Amino acid sequence: MALYSEKVMDHFRNPRNVGKIDDADGVGEVGNAKCGDIMKIYLKIENDIIVDVKFNTFGCGSAIASSSMATELIKGKPLSKALELTNKAVAEALDGLPAHKLHCSVLAEEAIRAAIKDYYDKNGISYDKAQFPDPSEEHDHFEED
Ligand code: FES
Repeated sequence: MALYSEKVMDHFRNPRNVGKIDDADGVGEVGNAKCGDIMKIYLKIENDIIVDVKFNTFGCGSAIASSSMATELIKGKPLSKALELTNKAVAEALDGLPAHKLHCSVLAEEAIRAAIKDYYDKNGISYDKAQFPDPSEEHDHFEED
């Protein structure tokens, strides 16, 4: 069996929503302490809905595929739904990632969370701090089956 699913290969070769939003409402940047890869997510938000999202990543193929899929999954969705997105859901939507590549999908989840937090902070919107744990303190928290 191939190491990577067709969906992973597709999103790696033709990543969706790559780029930058100049007037983004929220920007999140996270790094993976293990491999040194970096991901940045830009959100455009209107009435609590993610109307546009773009990402840039300096990372491996799995990180690119995960970010691409994650942006597709949150586009047009309310912030509450985007906050519920787990790396496991991203990996499942990609028809799976090899176990040693699951940590790459964590970057997407954390970058989205960081961008939403940035939006809340910039707009003085109160939120439950427990929803935004410091990623640097728990970069090993990805879920495995
Ligand atoms: Fe670093 Fe995949 S190896 S994100």
